[in-house]
Formats: sequence, C-alpha cells, structure tokens
Amino acid sequence: MAERILITGGLGQFGSELAVTLRERHGTDAVIVTDIRDDPDAAGPFVRLDARDGDAVRQIVRSHRITRVYHLAALLSAVSEARPMDAWEINMGGLVAVLEAAREFSLSVFTPSSIGAFGPQTPKEFTPQDTIQRPTSMYGVTKVAGELLCDYYFFKYGVDTRGVRFPGIISNVTPPGGGTTDYAVDIYYAAVQHRRYTCFLQGDTYLDMIYMPDAIKAAIDVMDADPAKLRHRNAFNVTAMSFSPEEQAAYIRRYLPDFEIAYDVDPVRQAIANSWPNSLEDYAARVEWGWQPEYDLDRMTADMLRTLTARLATSSDATAGAPG
Ligand code: SER
Repeated sequence: MAERILITGGLGQFGSELAVTLRERHGTDAVIVTDIRDDPDAAGPFVRLDARDGDAVRQIVRSHRITRVYHLAALLSAVSEARPMDAWEINMGGLVAVLEAAREFSLSVFTPSSIGAFGPQTPKEFTPQDTIQRPTSMYGVTKVAGELLCDYYFFKYGVDTRGVRFPGIISNVTPPGGGTTDYAVDIYYAAVQHRRYTCFLQGDTYLDMIYMPDAIKAAIDVMDADPAKLRHRNAFNVTAMSFSPEEQAAYIRRYLPDFEIAYDVDPVRQAIANSWPNSLEDYAARVEWGWQPEYDLDRMTADMLRTLTARLATSSDATAGAPG
C-alpha cells in the first residue's frame, strides 16, 4: 500500500529534513507536514496543528487519508527542565492524541525516544538495549513514559508503533532548539564563522551523536522493517559515534588549525548530560532491522565544515583551511 505520511513537529531540526527525504520517496503530496507554527515557505502540503488536539489530529488523518505518522512534536531536554509541566503536557499530550488516532485509523506510528530515557543508574559505557531506565530529567520521564505507552498500544490494540532512542542529532539545515546536545551543532557554525566556540558542557563530557543522514535512515528503515523480525519496538538504541567537546574540537582543528574552544559550563545542562550514557550499544537495531551508520566523527566534521563554509564564510581566509 502506498503510504500517506503525517509529520508532527515538522518544522523542527529533524522533521524539516525528514520531510524532504520522505517526499523524494513517496511524492510531495503524500507527506503532510504539520507544526504548531505556520510555514510561509511550505514546499508541499502543510497544516498548522497543535498535536495535543486529538480532534484536529483525527480530522487531518481522515481528510488526508493518512497511513503513517512521524510524531516529532516535543520539547527537548533543556527546555523541558526549565518548563517541566509544559514538557509533560506537550510530550505526553501529543503522543496520546496521535496514538488514539492510530488506534482508530490503523496507522503506523514512529516516535523518537532518546538517550535521555536513561539515568544515573544506567550502565554508562555501551549501554545495553534492555537495562535500567530511571531518568532524572522531565524530558527523560516523558521519553520513558512514551516508550511504555507506545508498547502498550502495540500489545493492547495491535497499533504498529516503533521508535529509536536517538542520540544528539547533528545537522546544518534547521538548528536544534533547547537540547543538551545542541553544543555539538553550534560548534561547527562558530568554527566556520569565528574560529572560536564557548561550550556550555565540560570538555570531557562524552555523549552519543549521529549525523542527520544516518538519523533519517534510522527513522525510515525502522518503519520499513519486516515486523516478523522485530523483537523490540519502542525503542531501539541507535548510535553512530561517541565523543567529548574536547575531541570534537581536536577533529575540527584537523581542518581549521586555529580553532579554539573555551568553556562556560551551564550547570543545568551539565547535570542532564552527566545523567546520560557515555556510549550506547545498538546491537538489537543492527540485528533486527539492519541498522548501520555511515558517518563517524571525522567524516561528519569534514561534511559539516565543507557545507557551512560554502554557505556562511565570506572572507577568503575563512575558506582557506576548509576541507575540499
Ligand atoms: N538531543 C536531545 C536533547 O539534548 C536528546 O535527545 O535534548
């Protein structure tokens, strides 16, 4: 059956690029982008939607004959910590509205979980797929509750729910907003524009990361996987690399030797990062649906600097050290 896809939170960092890839595969009109904000530059069908509004969700699903939802509308970790009740209401309210529509209209649903679904008692290195999940951030609480709720809709109602636990997503089109891993994106913009970056996490903080093309591949492949092979559903660990700000700076220096990093630590985001794993193990995703990332830190750094240099750098000296 030809899929007709609804994306919530479609103007965010991930949705804005996922929509492009999905439209290339399924056709522009088969992908309905929605967001709580308007999009004056929409490149295809767009509807303004507050994903918490169950009636509005069901109406869009019905009128656009939707078969699959990528439910991306959510607050990220740092914003969730500043506004915990909004995070609960938005992250859980949106998910419930989407799952109820999925139950009624037999939709398949992708929901992103996160490295934020782990906590201080979780094994920090090579964090297994099935392990202790006692997060201490409100973001993490909503992610664990979301994983459980998605599994519940599968077991109880047979709704085809699937998801991955994303690490920090690095990209160069739409900036992330309010996450703990945002530094790993900002650093490339600052490197190209100013040769200097002040990082809000300590230099030795290790976190998992993934480059956007791999993140998109994960979200598409897990939804297209043969259901007979899935032992897990919500949600698969996926990772492509684990590094610290110090290491990322060292890789940037391979291409921009005069790049400097300084630190001005934000205690809230540092505490969140300290409660998350240093590195994930993603064996279940590899075995159950063939997960295999393409970008490591070096390849991603070269691509980010090349892309941003072409777009942002104006002075001739800014392009001198950039990878070709
Ligand atoms: N990138 C997210 C955040 O930092 C983690 O899922 O909030």
